[in-house]
Amino acid sequence: MWHQPQARCPLIVFLVPRVARYPDGPIFGYRLGWVDQLSLENRTALVTGASRGIGAATARALDRAGARVALVARSREDLGKVAAGLGRDPVVIPADLREPGAAGEVAARALEALGSVDILVNNAAAAARLPTVDTDAAIIDQMLAVNVRAPLLLIAALIPAMTQRRQGSIINLSSVSGLIGTPRRAAYAASKGAIDAATRSLAIELGPMGIRVNSVAPGVVDTALWASNKKVEGVIEAVESLTPLRRWAQPDDIADVIVFLASDAARFVTGETICVDGGMGRALDLYGGPV
Ligand SMILES: NC(=O)c1ccc[n+]([C@@H]2O[C@H](COP(=O)([O-])OP(=O)(O)OC[C@H]3O[C@@H](n4cnc5c(N)ncnc54)[C@H](OP(=O)(O)O)[C@@H]3O)[C@@H](O)[C@H]2O)c1
Repeated sequence: MWHQPQARCPLIVFLVPRVARYPDGPIFGYRLGWVDQLSLENRTALVTGASRGIGAATARALDRAGARVALVARSREDLGKVAAGLGRDPVVIPADLREPGAAGEVAARALEALGSVDILVNNAAAAARLPTVDTDAAIIDQMLAVNVRAPLLLIAALIPAMTQRRQGSIINLSSVSGLIGTPRRAAYAASKGAIDAATRSLAIELGPMGIRVNSVAPGVVDTALWASNKKVEGVIEAVESLTPLRRWAQPDDIADVIVFLASDAARFVTGETICVDGGMGRALDLYGGPV
């Protein structure tokens, strides 16, 4: 009975016994296993700053990977527009993370609506580029409140539920500004350096509970954050020339790495800050030219 199909379909006859024998092997099994590990089917996620830019791209990427997503930002209208494009019954939670009580309320509402939060993406940020001489207490307080206090309080509020399921992946949005010197960003850079430090500390504290904590550090991403700077003559080209991969990042470039960190493919990665910057933060084009 085997003889005829063998003669007709040599490729199938070659592959089927190998896939059956080596389900994690190098032909199909490995590839299918990898895709499986990137799947977020039956997971739940909370993304702050999900109304535009990197947060919106992340919400869409998590949704595509199979997670049910809760979206947080101040603008209910903008969140609604992002949610309308998602396919897995998203939850919209408008909140102002500058408020001290907001993180706790957001976590409670997310847990009530989703039943669990397996993935937390602390993405919302307040940013300012200005000389330090023009920096005042209100600006510093706002940046620390949104970029450091709110992420820490969200994590604190979600630890019990993640611990109960022995499953959690927390991804904090950092920046190259937290890792290298960038101009007119002392307060913003301090907030990003702080979240990287917290990431490493939390990895130790939460690892035994099955919770991983990592940061993603973008370089220059084409979002509203850069809209006004982009209009300055020469800025587009300057960013390109400082980036070894010679282009601006798009929000999806960052979102895809966040999905990886959220997934089982990154199951042994914690306490890490991953630069997603086209090489900008680690490379210095010393002479800016051919020598
Ligand atoms: N773009 C870049 O080049 C770049 C580079 C390095 C790092 N990053 C980091 O990547 C993350 C996302 O940046 P992005 O460029 O996508 O920023 P963005 O386009 O300005 O979006 C920021 C998001 O945060 C929300 N948000 C701001 N303040 C908030 C508050 N008080 N409460 C709740 N939500 C608030 C905004 O929504 P509402 O205004 O509706 O509240 C929006 O959804 C940030 O952590 C940023 O520091 C960006």
